[in-house]
Amino acid sequence: MCGIIGYLGERPVKSVLLEGLRRLEYRGYDSAGVVFFTAEGLFVHRVKGKILDLDESLARLEVSGKAPGLGHTRWATHGEPSERNAHPHLDCRKEIAVVHNGIIENYQSLRRELLARGHRFVSETDTEVLAHLVEEALEETQDLAEAVRRALLRVKGAYALAVIWSRDPERILVARQQSPLVLGLGEGEVFLASDVPALLPWTKKVVFLEDGDLAELRREGLHLFRLDGSTVKRSSQEIAWDASQAEKGGFPHFMLKEIYEQPEAIRNTLRGRLDPESSQVNLDDAELSPDFFKNLQKIFFVACGTSYHAGLVGKYLLEDLARIPVEVDLASEFRYRDPLVDERTLAVVISQSGETADTLAALRLAAQKGARVLGIVNVLGSTIAREAHRVVYTHAGPEIGVASTKAFTSQLTVILLLALYLGELRESLPPERAQRLAAELLQVPGRLQELIPKVHPVLRRLSERYFRRENFLYLGRHILFPVALEGALKLKEISYIHAEGYAAGEMKHGPIALIEENVPTVALAPRESGVIYEKMLSNIEEVRSRRGPVIAFGTQGDTHLAGLATDFVELPPTSWELFPLLYTVPLQLFAYEMAVRRGCDVDQPRNLAKSVTVE
Ligand code: AGP
Repeated sequence: MCGIIGYLGERPVKSVLLEGLRRLEYRGYDSAGVVFFTAEGLFVHRVKGKILDLDESLARLEVSGKAPGLGHTRWATHGEPSERNAHPHLDCRKEIAVVHNGIIENYQSLRRELLARGHRFVSETDTEVLAHLVEEALEETQDLAEAVRRALLRVKGAYALAVIWSRDPERILVARQQSPLVLGLGEGEVFLASDVPALLPWTKKVVFLEDGDLAELRREGLHLFRLDGSTVKRSSQEIAWDASQAEKGGFPHFMLKEIYEQPEAIRNTLRGRLDPESSQVNLDDAELSPDFFKNLQKIFFVACGTSYHAGLVGKYLLEDLARIPVEVDLASEFRYRDPLVDERTLAVVISQSGETADTLAALRLAAQKGARVLGIVNVLGSTIAREAHRVVYTHAGPEIGVASTKAFTSQLTVILLLALYLGELRESLPPERAQRLAAELLQVPGRLQELIPKVHPVLRRLSERYFRRENFLYLGRHILFPVALEGALKLKEISYIHAEGYAAGEMKHGPIALIEENVPTVALAPRESGVIYEKMLSNIEEVRSRRGPVIAFGTQGDTHLAGLATDFVELPPTSWELFPLLYTVPLQLFAYEMAVRRGCDVDQPRNLAKSVTVE
């Protein structure tokens, strides 16, 4: 997720771009750049680092320019954070500048074609192909709007794009496809941005573009059209938010915004990696090929906290789909014992931040012992990403809330892709099962999009009933045992309630002593889980018979479970392999609502840091 800003009007363009970027920094902050006009033509300046670094570096250059101008703050997805990978990107003649937020899925083939036709690339990014495609189209049309339209007809993927051309300083061209883009309207001036906060210093009159929209921005107004060339109208709206609300997209907290962003995060993590027709998994962007997995005897998942819970889910999936032994270890334990790791081991290190000290130490130990190391990381260019032998990135975008939500479900998505990939490679996964799972996985973003707003009010009401309780037990079996651990971690880390996740089969081995009227139990009991479901019902009866309240999460329409439980949260039926993706989200919402009701600092809980870079 990156942030783009653009301006055409009489204000000092540099200050508009920098102020706009400052308000978009939460969208990405590993590198930044601007482009505007000077007497010599396009002036481009980019830095690796934050907006402040860009600001200071520009101030030293003492350059002032005029509109049109574009700015970009980057959250790297393709190509390490660096000056040359920072946006804007230019064509061969340095007359066209583009800034982009999104992922161009077919950029490698486009890049090969363009190189073959003599274009010269300077970056490793997917974005740069756009500048050269527009360059070629301009040679035919000499019209910027038509050139951008023709260029985009060649492109597959997601983009919020802005383009300027040194020979046409009175226009900015923009386009939107699955990445947000909003236009701001002023008197004789026009703005563009990835998100509303960047427009608020100058205007509250905005036009939200839709997927497939293109727009030609001039001082006197807009001309909107579609990829097929037809004209389209979009009405303007007045924004009621203040800047702080706008940065959270109108949500009260980043954590809630990020819970609601999970369909998009999963969609972006799947993008280009799972073919809807063939169900083929494509991990080429991670440079993964069959020989990376040659004579593999064992997989080790190693991580901390929520990422460790993703590894625990991975054990169930990889052992069942790829029929390979899997161990899961806390990085802080792995690094201090002498784990049985060698060149036949694949160590999968999972980390949102890519900077967790224990996980990094575990990575180094595994590599030193000869293991192949695969990273599942959210931050491109982070230490773990750089030191792993290969990385499959979660494209969750920056996760600001300390409690991990969208990164976790994105990690689960990558692990499912890995299980499908290895299942096929090792011929342990029947094609029809692979196709069914792939089809269901592709539907998860849409199903979550539907589920979240529906189940949120249910959990808000439950939190009103339970927020004063001081102890909770979370129970799950099989692949939902790690989800019980994750649900308990979410509750404890943001509401400070003591919550313990447990394998439900362990009840008789101790935890049942805890059960009493003011100790609620959260039980995860989907009816589709067969014998596991029957066993969960017994556990729920054990709790209820000792007057313990039970909040059951189960399959919609399961009246039997509803009758047994104190409270029942209905979820849609799904295959067991996808239970974690569906059951985690309501537990996140429950923890969120409990923390809000208890007046806790949801985004920055006490004593916690977003990335634990020390032991
Ligand atoms: C999760 O909500 C916590 N913030 C924490 O457990 C986190 O998952 C853990 O510190 C690991 O962080 P990482 O994924 O960045 O390595």
